[in-house]
Amino acid sequence: MKALIASGGRGTRLRPLTHTQNKHLIPIANKPMLHYAIETVAEAGIKEIGIVHNADSDEVPKAIGDGSRWGVKITYIPQEAPLGLAHVVLIAEDFIGDDKFVFYLGDNMFVGGIKKFVEEFEKNHYNCFLTLAKVKDPQRFGVPEIVDGKIVRIEEKPKTPKSNFAVAGIYFYDSSIFEAVKNIKPSWRGELEISDAHTYLIEKGYKVGYAEITGWWKDTGKPEDLLEANRLVLDSLEARIEENVEVDQSTKIEGKVILERGAKVKNSIIRGPAIIGKSCIIEGSYIGPYTSIDEGSFVLNSEIEYSIVMKNCKILNVGIRIESSLLGNDVEIVEAVGKPRVHKFMIGDQSRIEIAW
Ligand code: DAU
Repeated sequence: MKALIASGGRGTRLRPLTHTQNKHLIPIANKPMLHYAIETVAEAGIKEIGIVHNADSDEVPKAIGDGSRWGVKITYIPQEAPLGLAHVVLIAEDFIGDDKFVFYLGDNMFVGGIKKFVEEFEKNHYNCFLTLAKVKDPQRFGVPEIVDGKIVRIEEKPKTPKSNFAVAGIYFYDSSIFEAVKNIKPSWRGELEISDAHTYLIEKGYKVGYAEITGWWKDTGKPEDLLEANRLVLDSLEARIEENVEVDQSTKIEGKVILERGAKVKNSIIRGPAIIGKSCIIEGSYIGPYTSIDEGSFVLNSEIEYSIVMKNCKILNVGIRIESSLLGNDVEIVEAVGKPRVHKFMIGDQSRIEIAW
């Protein structure tokens, strides 16, 4: 069995973060999102992975490499434009050949692994096996209509959903999916929809099965989804203190906290679940639950909770707690000094700031 992972698209709902970095490389608990997909697939014993990425950027191949660190072989498949998930499958036909494969959307995060799904898919000789998750907002997803325990069709982002399930972005196929993706037409939004390919298979009488994901599952399309995924991943990690970490006597570490190599913490409270990245300096500060602070960041006399802070940020003497926030790489939030006492901004396109005073 092979794996195909999608890491293309434009990530428009995550701007401005995605102006400068691919959505799938955004860190969740200080690890690029795409690592979780690769780890899940590798854990299931799959050795050959194709990653589809935007043809106009080599950011993903550069960041991920040849796969040797996970014991897998990665082949990169450039996609000329985000023409839809069925298009992602279409351009991977040469890579997949006659093998069965799991198609994994690189922006989906979930716990529990895929081994049990692979087994069910193989045992029942399905042509296509889908994973479903119960959601509050099915309008955002591909939604199955289920009659007498069987999926009869799947609608992409329906106005009136026929069930409260989303088809999650972890799909299992044999080569009949190539017939489907070649026989569907682009949707109203100009994309070859994977939901239409699934409906095609059902209508042609192919064997389409499904299982429900019972643990947590997240499609990380929006900023609040990233924070929620960060929370869920941090909750699942064990406390750890790596080498060359320095924590002084007046610091309180409470709950599950990970301190990565060379982090220095002075006169602070760190309340887990939280992760402080390599060589970070935290001084006179409060780092609250569900916060990830990535490599090289400096937090001085400030408070932050339920947030993702990427690499080399500076948060210095900020007089109000920062919460539910996403800070890109090299961001600085610092105290205004001198007169007049004003807020001073230097903000890139499509940024968003909420101020409380
Ligand atoms: O997350 C599950 C949902 O994923 C399913 O319920 C929907 O049926 C399915 O269409 C998809 O919906 P989204 O609107 O979330 O898809 P999105 O455009 O965000 O793309 C999903 C992933 O695939 C994301 O990692 C980007 C990547 N992608 C997307 C497109 C359209 C590509 O690599 N190439 C593409 O052409």
